[in-house]
Amino acid sequence: CGIIGYAGHRPAVPVVVEGLRRLEYRGYDSAGVAFVRQDDIHVVRAMGKLAALEEKLAHESVTTPTCAMGHTRWATHGVPAERNAHPHCSNDGSLAIVHNGIIENYQTIKAELTGKGYTFTSETDTEVLVNLIAERRKTSPDLLHAFATALREAHGAYAVCLMDKNEPGVIYAARMSAPLIFGQGTGENFVASDIPAFLPYTRKVVFLQDGDLVRATASSYEILRLEDLSPVSHETQTIQWDMQAAQKGGYRHFMLKEIFEQPRVISDGLTGRMNDDKSMVRLAELDDLPVPKRLHIVACGTSYHSGLWGRLLLEHWARVPVQVEIASEFRYRDTLLLDKDDMVLVISQSGETADTLAALRIAKQNGVTVLGLCNVVGSSIAREASAVLYTQAGPEISVASTKAMCSQMLMLTLMALYWGTRKGCLSVEESRNNLQILENLPALLDGSLPAMHERAKEISRKYAQVNNFFYLGRGHCYPLALEGALKLKELSYIHAEGYAAGEMKHGPIALIDPSFPTFALALDDALLPKVKSNMVEVQARQGQVIALTNKGVELDAEDRWDIPALPGPLSAFLALPALQLFSYETADYLGKDVDQPRNLAKSVTVE
Ligand code: G6P
Repeated sequence: CGIIGYAGHRPAVPVVVEGLRRLEYRGYDSAGVAFVRQDDIHVVRAMGKLAALEEKLAHESVTTPTCAMGHTRWATHGVPAERNAHPHCSNDGSLAIVHNGIIENYQTIKAELTGKGYTFTSETDTEVLVNLIAERRKTSPDLLHAFATALREAHGAYAVCLMDKNEPGVIYAARMSAPLIFGQGTGENFVASDIPAFLPYTRKVVFLQDGDLVRATASSYEILRLEDLSPVSHETQTIQWDMQAAQKGGYRHFMLKEIFEQPRVISDGLTGRMNDDKSMVRLAELDDLPVPKRLHIVACGTSYHSGLWGRLLLEHWARVPVQVEIASEFRYRDTLLLDKDDMVLVISQSGETADTLAALRIAKQNGVTVLGLCNVVGSSIAREASAVLYTQAGPEISVASTKAMCSQMLMLTLMALYWGTRKGCLSVEESRNNLQILENLPALLDGSLPAMHERAKEISRKYAQVNNFFYLGRGHCYPLALEGALKLKELSYIHAEGYAAGEMKHGPIALIDPSFPTFALALDDALLPKVKSNMVEVQARQGQVIALTNKGVELDAEDRWDIPALPGPLSAFLALPALQLFSYETADYLGKDVDQPRNLAKSVTVE
């Protein structure tokens, strides 16, 4: 989602709508604006693209207000509908709010408010929040205090912007674990989810921190701490980027930005997915479906690799037998082999891949439950599946998939833990331990990415001129080897093959010579000794080896790359970005078009 708030001297609604357009790359399925006119809050909302909102606004007189806010929604749960579009108003019509994020305890708050006579027209947590602020205002000295009190009660992640009809030139905003940036103009101020929203007007920004609360007018602003409303002063920074660079968040390419977004993808994906004591997974979407006797995972490309990786967790923790198939093969196989107690899981970032969609339809015709794991809300696969889980990675722009795979792996992990505890074959203790690791993962990954990026640069320079590469792995590292090879070939056009390390001696090893290097996934797990022997076999044929490994592991490699260790398959969340960065750096160094590699499409909607 994207939000923007404006208090200034220009006609505010056009400024806000333009800002929303520059947040367009975040994707949306509905949009809305709010402004105060003649002492009343006016809200205009529309389904679909921004053009639909503009169409509606054409019939409104919107030139006078100089303060407004807007929202583009990229639905994360449920079908997009106008009643769920932002802004939302309080029952008394005095307050309007736009919100990006999730209020986890909104059901409890909603129950309290319903008891006091509040009514709700949407299913959103946002409408609950704005009414909570209205309720707390009754017992607070002013709106600022009411806003802070309400936010202290709301648990979760949010970036919000609030307007009061009694203060037509003022915007309030707050941030907790969701992006929000303050833009300081001359005679005008902004808040927005991302800098491009206001970049034509000001380059002076303050990066708001979690727990910051803002009150801004055209000529003044204050930033306060949520806990006690004490003032804070953050440094104002001047942005040097042009618009295109700003959309990439200052990164050279969308791909690099998306790789670096993975810690956030994990924390967003975990939000609302754990029970109160964080011992078990919540996946309400699956509560009404039986645990499958057998699962067929069907997907293409990178999504297929996620499926191969997820199989191991589903089999290990949930004891569900899993087959993983390429969609273009599955659709032409003898589907009579599907049993009615089987379940088909289709994985697709875009939700539009033709072969995956065809596989879904065939499975449905065979009377089998089809679960969709998609990133794009309302996509064909999401609509046609019997049930859908969303990966919530946010729009992925670069053609080569990166953060989407991370989000798919996270959801597959959660599914394995969920079904495992539901069936009783995984102890609550084990589930809790793994959830703990996942919870700590965003910080660990965030802290590791800069060094990983540096090492990727060093090693990629050394090997950028080779014509061929092997990627080897075993167990959960085998799908990663396939993905590493796919990333390298699609981005840098260097021929690369992913192999199960143990298969090398059945043919591929004949290719090894000093000019044919091998990228070995040699993480510190139970299969490490086996991988090490395979590395030695390669070296015995004068093959050079890059070993992605962990500190303390003893091995011999031409280039060693240490990443932090995690127990078992969850270490894949750290190995994946290393593989992505290596391919990215190789391609960029060779001058290739990283975000749009030749001959490839982001979403393949033909067979
Ligand atoms: C295309 C993209 C890949 C993607 C694959 C499957 O080939 O270039 O990055 O993995 O399609 O796409 P999906 O949207 O179904 O996950």
